[in-house]
Amino acid sequence: HPPAPGPAHDIASCLVTSGVKNFSLPASKSFKPILDSSLRYLRFDVPSVGKPAAIVLPASQRELQRAVLCARSSSLAIRVRSGGHSYEGLSYTSENYVPFVVIDLANLNRVRVDAASTTVWAESGATLGELYHAVWQSNRTLAFPAGTCSTIGLGGFVSGGGFGLLARKHGLAVDNVLDATLIDASGRALTRATMDADVFWAIRGGGGGSWGVVSSWKLRLVPVPAIVTVFDMDRRGPAGLIAGLIHKWQFVGPHLPDEFYISTKIYFTPAPASGGNLTMSFTGQVLGPKRLAFSVLTKAYPELRLAASELSEVSWVESAAKFAGLSSVADLPGRQIGVGEYAKRKSDYVQAALSEEDMARVARYMTTAPTEGSIQLNPYGAAMARIGSSETPFPHRAGFLYSVQYAIDWKASENDRSGEYMRWLREFYEFMAPFVSKNPRSAYVNYVDLDLGTNNWTTATGGPLSASSVSHAASWGRRYFLHNFDRLVRAKSKIDPGNVFNNAQSIPPSH
Ligand code: FDA
Repeated sequence: HPPAPGPAHDIASCLVTSGVKNFSLPASKSFKPILDSSLRYLRFDVPSVGKPAAIVLPASQRELQRAVLCARSSSLAIRVRSGGHSYEGLSYTSENYVPFVVIDLANLNRVRVDAASTTVWAESGATLGELYHAVWQSNRTLAFPAGTCSTIGLGGFVSGGGFGLLARKHGLAVDNVLDATLIDASGRALTRATMDADVFWAIRGGGGGSWGVVSSWKLRLVPVPAIVTVFDMDRRGPAGLIAGLIHKWQFVGPHLPDEFYISTKIYFTPAPASGGNLTMSFTGQVLGPKRLAFSVLTKAYPELRLAASELSEVSWVESAAKFAGLSSVADLPGRQIGVGEYAKRKSDYVQAALSEEDMARVARYMTTAPTEGSIQLNPYGAAMARIGSSETPFPHRAGFLYSVQYAIDWKASENDRSGEYMRWLREFYEFMAPFVSKNPRSAYVNYVDLDLGTNNWTTATGGPLSASSVSHAASWGRRYFLHNFDRLVRAKSKIDPGNVFNNAQSIPPSH
């Protein structure tokens, strides 16, 4: 049973008594800088969005355990933050205005590589860039299959699956998790050997914030060649021309050999900047030399008119820095890069390629964007299609050709138009319904989207829940997890029946 409610400030004395020194309260000068330190989406940095009663930065697993217990004894809801990149700010906001504490893992960011066993134990507060950098320092032909943005936190990333440029060869981040340490609602530290099998399955892709706090992950490193080939190029033109290129991409991206990754982002910047044209940018990585990349790609995708000069040979870690938008590998561990942007994002999956005519309609729709609008198409297939849809909670495997990420981005100076911009994105999403997966219309939990529905907790710390909580949560839970949703509810009922760990879209326990 949760402890009796107490005033929010009780947490400070509990932390002090427990020997946890590093925390900040709203009256402190350090509070706002700490809150903002990894707050990625600035639309949540406004007075109308409730602020935490405290931010705790544990320096050790023991302090993390104590922080969880102090939050509970102070009747504060818990929000866990690793990299702060949640699209809906779930790691530092509370949708139901209950008093809450942010447990920020920024100081739990140690990465211990064991090159001999090609494994690593990484704390959840480490960023992808810190992980990549540490792996590279230990061995130049090992890597970890994760995402492009270097400041994403491992905690949230792995919790939601974790897709990146190596996924067609090595699967998602979760497909390479060997063990983990989970701090549960009673403050216990559980590992694979001591946690329930359903729970170990659930934490590998069932979404962050539902199960407890994962303090560290044991990851399998994967081999990469000393030299990989990369490209990053644009093609511009009117909607008709771009539609032809995207149409063809559908028959290339998801069908190339495992060693090939080519994603595309189509974006529109309203005239006069673009003259009304669309830009299609390609991100490519080939696990092999330039000569192989060039011969396969020119055959499979002649419409691209690829020039050999557009390809470059680099080491894998250089490619990771390049796609993170960094000028050097030494910048990979930087935690402050790109913090703060205004945007709204949504996601879809495509199971059957769109016709060229339909693609032209999509491209034309994009030219109506009121500001910079984009869709990013990430190719699946290869290893992604060979891994079973129940092996982890992430179900979008065989039969899913590619994911779609819709985005609208704006500047601070355009903030008064944010409502209009987000409305455009939602209407675009509605327009796309006939072309994407159905029954349910799938989405990716790491591209978390509260438009799909939210929990409606009845009390401050989450429970008790109404009997309809599970069927309500199924309305978005099945979009993220398909048939795996039911097993996630079972796992939740075992590890956190009191629903201590909750957020707007967390998995509810059953009764
Ligand atoms: P954050 O700290 O906001 O946490 C996200 C969620 O997980 C929250 O609900 C939080 O409470 C919970 N959580 C965090 N740490 C936890 C822990 N230790 N234990 C339990 N729960 C925890 N995705 C992808 O698959 N491939 C990609 O290439 C990209 N690229 C990308 C670029 C950019 C710029 C952004 C902003 C996002 C992406 N993403 C992505 C999406 C990204 O994977 C997603 O936002 C992750 O949840 C971010 O994890 P953080 O730890 O940074 O976020």
